[in-house]
Amino acid sequence: MGVDGVDAMKIAIIGVGRLGSILVGKFARTADVTAIDKEFCRLKPGAGIKQGNNISDAKNCDVIIVSVKPKEINGVLLQLKELSLGKHQLLISAAAGVPLNFIKEYSNAKRVSRIMPNVNIEVNEGFIAYCGEDVREVFGDLGVCMEIDEKHFDVLTSVSGSGPAFIWHFAKAFEEVAEQNGISEKDARMIIGQLLKGCGEMMLKTDKSLDELIATVASPGGTTEQGLKHLNEMRVNGIIAETLERAIKKAKEIGKSIG
Ligand SMILES: NC(=O)c1ccc[n+]([C@@H]2O[C@H](COP(=O)([O-])OP(=O)(O)OC[C@H]3O[C@@H](n4cnc5c(N)ncnc54)[C@H](OP(=O)(O)O)[C@@H]3O)[C@@H](O)[C@H]2O)c1
Repeated sequence: MGVDGVDAMKIAIIGVGRLGSILVGKFARTADVTAIDKEFCRLKPGAGIKQGNNISDAKNCDVIIVSVKPKEINGVLLQLKELSLGKHQLLISAAAGVPLNFIKEYSNAKRVSRIMPNVNIEVNEGFIAYCGEDVREVFGDLGVCMEIDEKHFDVLTSVSGSGPAFIWHFAKAFEEVAEQNGISEKDARMIIGQLLKGCGEMMLKTDKSLDELIATVASPGGTTEQGLKHLNEMRVNGIIAETLERAIKKAKEIGKSIG
């Protein structure tokens, strides 16, 4: 029984790695969570978390989230098929590159969604793209959920799923320069973190284009203009575009190898 005497949603998470462990931690606060991993669960048992070693432990769950690597999803879906999931059960796959049709076909589940979340769900600021069944009831508290055409999922995998790692890669360079110039590690973390948070808020809460936002900082002959000139000379935007395209290509390759 959950809070207010209402039955808590029963959620199984299959694959408790980088993404799955965040999901377990988040959902354990409000739901009845069964965490299923290949050999053993990496999480210590806690309130609301049951450890499962077997896919069949998901049998009676309302929601089953699969967060194993794409190359391992096949076997998991086939084992789920043996459970003959019912009409009320929602199967959600987070695996990059694995199409909705494949998930349906291999699991024979009646209600299926494909999502592409990012790890910012840990602070309830994730972006969760979904196609298939609506997942807002499950993921709504963890960030912005948006239904997106499946044909865009490879792009989303790159810009949003992998996105935090790319942004933090650049943030690391900012932190390093701050520290090399005498700012403490702790202060640098706060300064750059707040910088990113503020930039995100500006993008979401003003109606200015990115060029207009850049222009509000870069006064002619000033320090920002010098830095931007260097970024342009070094074709940094081209490198970023190539980086994202490589991730898109990899997502497409995963899809081809699965289907
Ligand atoms: N990490 C992200 O930011 C992110 C974002 C969006 C989507 N995704 C997607 O989420 C999925 C998981 O990514 P990840 O980074 O969390 O990978 P990961 O850290 O490798 O986690 C996968 C987990 O699944 C376990 N596993 C493998 N086969 C299993 C099975 N048959 N039954 C139960 N558990 C099994 C693995 O155990 P072993 O290590 O023992 O094999 C591992 O603990 C991927 O498909 C990825 O595309 C990840």
